[in-house]
Amino acid sequence: MPTSAVSPQAWCSLILTRCGLTFRGTQVPGVVATVRDHIREHQIENEAAYFTRLAKEPDGSAEWSALVERLLNHETSFFRHPPSFELLRAQVLPELRESAPGRRLNFWSAGCSTGQEAYSLAMLALAAADRDQHSGDFTVWGGDISREAIGLARRGRYNSRAIAGIPPAYRERFLRPATQGIATEYDVVDEVRRRVRFTTVNLLAARDVSLNHDVIFCHNVLIYFAANVASQVVAGLAQRLTLGGYLFLGPGEGPSERPPGLEPVAMNGVRAFRRKAQWVAEVRP
Ligand SMILES: C[S@@+](CC[C@H](N)C(=O)[O-])C[C@H]1O[C@@H](n2cnc3c(N)ncnc32)[C@H](O)[C@@H]1O
Repeated sequence: MPTSAVSPQAWCSLILTRCGLTFRGTQVPGVVATVRDHIREHQIENEAAYFTRLAKEPDGSAEWSALVERLLNHETSFFRHPPSFELLRAQVLPELRESAPGRRLNFWSAGCSTGQEAYSLAMLALAAADRDQHSGDFTVWGGDISREAIGLARRGRYNSRAIAGIPPAYRERFLRPATQGIATEYDVVDEVRRRVRFTTVNLLAARDVSLNHDVIFCHNVLIYFAANVASQVVAGLAQRLTLGGYLFLGPGEGPSERPPGLEPVAMNGVRAFRRKAQWVAEVRP
């Protein structure tokens, strides 16, 4: 270890403060090894000077992103947690359409990784518009801290393994083969892509994210956060909901107590909340 080495605790604390990721016990040596691989590959000579420089870098800077990228888990899939999508399809969408006829709805996939969750929301909303015979105006916003993931999300091209979770009727309607041969890939069709906007965003500093989301999905993101960070992020998500809007978390994810201003929605296997009309926001990360 170089004499200018930074302690594992200092690295973990910097990463926790800046992007919420928390590492414990046996995970810590792996994180430090990843950071030091990065340092070696980039021929950075002084670890302590690099640490100090990095701590001053703004979120989203190339240097900070390059390191954080190595620590993120982008695992995802289309319609990853079916009960959440079923609740949205069967109950939430009809209710939102009825309470605000003709209004454009906003959906947010918070921590969207390479785009599958955001495109799933768009496919479902388009199919619901056909079913219920309304114009179905909506926009899906996909946000992630990872520039690389957002780049792939914008591309909207997936291999046959990735599309396996899409119901056959949706696959038929919303995908087109992009290449032929052994490794066929598929493009999400323009009808879906036009409805989805991707952007890099750090959920710990999401001040610029608009406050008028009707539905927010935040699945498999909070599990990587420290408990106090997860509570803070959920409070921020809650404040970005319209009155009567819905927050969907992954089952068993996020704070065990009910998020402020939200009431739980009863459905087996789904962790969803509805924003109470009378609630006034106090915290806005
Ligand atoms: C495991 S993926 C989950 C993707 C999708 N939500 C799903 O359930 O399939 C977690 C994503 O959260 C993103 N992420 C982690 N920390 C974040 C932060 N502070 N702000 C925004 N996104 C973050 C990661 O880059 C990663 O793409």
